[in-house]
Amino acid sequence: MRYFITGTAGFIGFHLARRLLQDGHEVVGFDGMTHYYNIRLKHMRNAALAQFPAFRAVTAMLEDRKALEDAVSSAKPDIIIHLAAQAGVRYSLENPHAYLTSNLEGSWNVLEAAKGAGIQHLLLASTSSIYGANSSVPFRETDRADEPLTFYAATKKSMELMAHSYSHLHKIPTTAFRFFTVYGPWGRPDMALFKFVKNILQDQPIEIYGQGKMSRDFTYIDDLVESIVRLAAVIPSESNRVNDERVETLSHQAPFRVVNIGGGQQVSLLDFVETVEKALARPAKRVMLPMQKGDVPRTFASADLLVALTGYKPTTPLATGVEAFVEWYLEAHRELEAQTA
Ligand SMILES: NC(=O)c1ccc[n+]([C@@H]2O[C@H](COP(=O)([O-])OP(=O)(O)OC[C@H]3O[C@@H](n4cnc5c(N)ncnc54)[C@H](O)[C@@H]3O)[C@@H](O)[C@H]2O)c1
Repeated sequence: MRYFITGTAGFIGFHLARRLLQDGHEVVGFDGMTHYYNIRLKHMRNAALAQFPAFRAVTAMLEDRKALEDAVSSAKPDIIIHLAAQAGVRYSLENPHAYLTSNLEGSWNVLEAAKGAGIQHLLLASTSSIYGANSSVPFRETDRADEPLTFYAATKKSMELMAHSYSHLHKIPTTAFRFFTVYGPWGRPDMALFKFVKNILQDQPIEIYGQGKMSRDFTYIDDLVESIVRLAAVIPSESNRVNDERVETLSHQAPFRVVNIGGGQQVSLLDFVETVEKALARPAKRVMLPMQKGDVPRTFASADLLVALTGYKPTTPLATGVEAFVEWYLEAHRELEAQTA
């Protein structure tokens, strides 16, 4: 199969592309190499992918509609997976414009490019953040998700809505998956695990928001990739409608479905810190801080629809995933820091 994946220099896109290449598929990766975090890490991921002859990288921004359309039409993909985005909850307070252009205009350009491409399936990355402060847990895809607390979440929810209309109008089978706090080797420097490990090793304090009372449903990267690979093969259509109305999100108007990818395990922030301390065999210097603007108190996925569609759900224990991250970090950090100094 031929895959066109946006965001392959990013954390998730890199892992997904590598897995598909290992499985013998062809991958064209499209990434604008933005400077949101250490660009060196993106170059390292690209270099690892470049070792596969079936990988081709296109460096351009999603906002460059012509570049994107040309890249898609020359790739002739069977499947498009759109992961490139301005990610990060907190940064959307500082620089909302990056979210507007990447996640709205950029995603619209992906829909336009997909429209005439004759693909079998379009898959798009959305986020658990769109559940906002929903208090009923676990979060089900059928729950209302109309009260985003951040502009990041608002742009992702908007992307889902835009995609539904394109799916209906142009008959594009589309799956929008909502990810829940993904972590693991090659992870993002702006996320808690990377920051905590780095600071603890440098004997620097770590900042714990919400006085540690928040909880997250953490998803190990390999489990996420396995879920995406399986979902890519489940092309939304009436013939595979799930027989349980409480979980099914397949639209009655379009071959469009929303699916959570999360294991449904809530971990408190303090338990998370302890797991990191154990993996490093070092205590953290903790600075307890209030909730940050836009933070949600908890995330907790219902995996029922994912299981109904794929027979699979994420299960890697947090301690195992954190250890794998630490092992990678200890190997990679010198190269990462050397280039940014
Ligand atoms: N990591 C998580 O926990 C998590 C949780 C929920 C949702 N998501 C979503 O998953 C997707 C992948 O996230 P990630 O963690 O790999 O993030 P990432 O920042 O590591 O990767 C995103 C990639 O997209 C590229 N990019 C950003 N804006 C672009 C633009 N306008 N044009 C071209 N390229 C652009 C960046 O250069 C980067 O390499 C994103 O859509 C994100 O919103 C991630």
